[in-house]
Amino acid sequence: MILRSKDLIGLEDLSREEILTILEAAEAFRTIFDRPVRKVPIMRGRTVVNFFVEPSTRTRISFELAEKRLSADIVNFDASTSSLKKGETLRDTAENIQAMKIDMIVVRHSSPGAAAYLGRVLKASVINAGDGAHEHPTQGLLDIMTMRQRLGDLAGRKVTIIGDIAQSRVARSNIYGLTKLGAEVTVCGPPTMVPAAIARLGATVEHDLKRAVADADVLNILRIQLERQSQMVFPGNREYHLMFGVTEEVLRHTKPSCFVMHPGPMNRDVEISSAVADGPRQVILEQVTNGVAVRMAVIYLLSGGDPRQLGGGARAGVREEE
Ligand code: CP
Repeated sequence: MILRSKDLIGLEDLSREEILTILEAAEAFRTIFDRPVRKVPIMRGRTVVNFFVEPSTRTRISFELAEKRLSADIVNFDASTSSLKKGETLRDTAENIQAMKIDMIVVRHSSPGAAAYLGRVLKASVINAGDGAHEHPTQGLLDIMTMRQRLGDLAGRKVTIIGDIAQSRVARSNIYGLTKLGAEVTVCGPPTMVPAAIARLGATVEHDLKRAVADADVLNILRIQLERQSQMVFPGNREYHLMFGVTEEVLRHTKPSCFVMHPGPMNRDVEISSAVADGPRQVILEQVTNGVAVRMAVIYLLSGGDPRQLGGGARAGVREEE
């Protein structure tokens, strides 16, 4: 096995070498997108189930496209019309799906630990597509892929993550992945949204936005997750925007080369102004494109694919669908 585990639950569990292997495979798969036929036959005969129990646009469609571009057979599980609604447990539902002879399950769930739990009880590979406030490993990988395309080696590079750090699986996956690649991560937001314990993951905490962005190479701006607030931790959207919203005025305090990322979905004019979201510094849709390539790489490697088959000339040699 190129990856040590049958599952991808979080970037906390991956070594630096495993992260780099996935990113290199993703770059190889990314080249397919510029071909007239954006499809390769390497997952033919394998079945992947997309098991989304929490809303998603980008991740769900991105996984589905990745699976289709690898020629896998796919099933999209619809939680709202499933027997989960009749009280069936997550485990029973997943074991029944596995009994239909499938190879891989992509899980999005609102509970932290749901993907790890399914990974323990199922023989099929489990990919975490976001579990509550725990991790979103493929988002972390696609963010890192986008940063490396712009900056090259991330050792010594400065990444500032701004927003609702406490509720953010994206922040956690970014911190684990980026620090393993040698980047310096600063997190910024109101004290009620930045738990002091985050420093234990290797990030520096800074509550002053202008100081946090001053020497950053990248700003990764997080969505204010209203659906995960058990109580309001800031006075309102307008106040948040005034204090921590990334605007053109805030960008004036950054290096000219500093660029802006957002995992989506965006709250325009709350955590990011529309002018920045649509402006020349942002790479938000590049992130989305890279997401499909990252997910192809993860699916390929977890299914036992050999990255050496993708390297060098095989970058060109990821064979097209006949
Ligand atoms: N970035 C992200 O996870 O978006 P979705 O919730 O739309 O999948």
